[in-house]
Amino acid sequence: MKVLVTGGAGFIGSNFIRYIIKKHPTYKIINLDKLTYAGNLENLADVEQNKSYRFVKGDICDQKLVDQVVEEGIDAIVNFAAESHVDRSLYDPKTFMQTNVLGTQTLMESGLKHRIKKYIQISTDEVYGSLKEGDDPFTEKSSILSNSPYSASKASADLLVRAYQKTFDLPAVITRCCNNYGPHQFPEKLIPLFITNAMEDKSLPIYGDGLYIRDWIYVEDHCRAIDLILHKGKVGEIYNISSNVEKTNLEITRMILAYLKKPSSLIKHVKDRPAHDRRYALKAEKIRKDLGWEPEVSFEQGISLTIDWYIKNKGWWEKVKSGEYLEYYQKHYIKRENS
Ligand code: NAD
Ligand code: DAU
Repeated sequence: MKVLVTGGAGFIGSNFIRYIIKKHPTYKIINLDKLTYAGNLENLADVEQNKSYRFVKGDICDQKLVDQVVEEGIDAIVNFAAESHVDRSLYDPKTFMQTNVLGTQTLMESGLKHRIKKYIQISTDEVYGSLKEGDDPFTEKSSILSNSPYSASKASADLLVRAYQKTFDLPAVITRCCNNYGPHQFPEKLIPLFITNAMEDKSLPIYGDGLYIRDWIYVEDHCRAIDLILHKGKVGEIYNISSNVEKTNLEITRMILAYLKKPSSLIKHVKDRPAHDRRYALKAEKIRKDLGWEPEVSFEQGISLTIDWYIKNKGWWEKVKSGEYLEYYQKHYIKRENS
């Protein structure tokens, strides 16, 4: 099988490529990535010499380039490429619409033209909006009620994928996963930001009261689910993916501080994120029942593996944090932290 993975230099995409190369050594993988601030080829340094793997630098919005890659006999496209950070979508919504919506359309056009056998859209539980404490978790049938520009761009892409599947018979499947954590996650997201800040004895900026809840999954469990969907997922379906691990941001912060033996005085409550979704929780019965998927990594195991990875790979995140990220952080975050 020849698979085009987009956004493979980012967090989940790089973990997925590593997973597929190991599980299916005969497959050919092409990684198409624009290398935005979040894309980092060091994430794939251990596979770049592998004969099954090839990297192409480029934008998923570039129809000519995407056509050139897909016409090489691509069987399946797995679309991870996206602007993925909610906070950034508050400052630059247009880039989110361009990549997340128009980029998706470009890939699907190419997929149709070259008759690919499967198109997987990696979406998110954020499209369902926010739950209150005591509400039932979201199912695949829950309404789309996006609250951030990021979420609205992902939801728009999902609707477009649905339309291409219904109208043009694109063999598409949509996945909606909860919050991922693990090695190689860009240190702008809660878990890697707080691990690395704590290691540097910097403050941990908790938005609002810190009692916001997310549903967490170890990235390798997510990769296994996508592999199953690539092979057995039914065209036209949406699959929620979740390990059902609900935690408040403060609970996670305290676990990180305890593991690193750092004081709770590093916690700093700062101005809240606008339209901050209070709680995410997903029912993932369909993928469990229909495809036999089960998560294998508990939160306690996963968080230890993750913190240990950031301890061992200080050079990786120090470099990442001193690049374009630092400029962005100084422009937007310092203001927030001081208010
Ligand atoms: P990430 O920000 O770490 O990586 C995104 C990658 O996409 C980067 O390598 C970047 O260079 C690339 N990219 C961005 N714009 C591009 C463009 N126009 N053309 C080509 N490449 C481009 O993101 P992530 O956390 O790995 O998320 C991957 C996907 O999974 C996203 O679609 C995201 O919406 C979805 N998702 C993420 C989570 C999570 O918790 N991180 C949960 C559910 C779903
Ligand atoms: O639910 C899936 C989504 O999870 C993905 O679609 C997104 O790509 C991914 O970024 C993630 O979105 P969140 O907004 O949930 O992730 P983030 O790590 O930005 O924030 C997690 C929680 O922590 C959220 O309640 C906001 C809070 N937070 C975050 C940061 C960065 C803080 O309190 N302080 C912070 O500095």
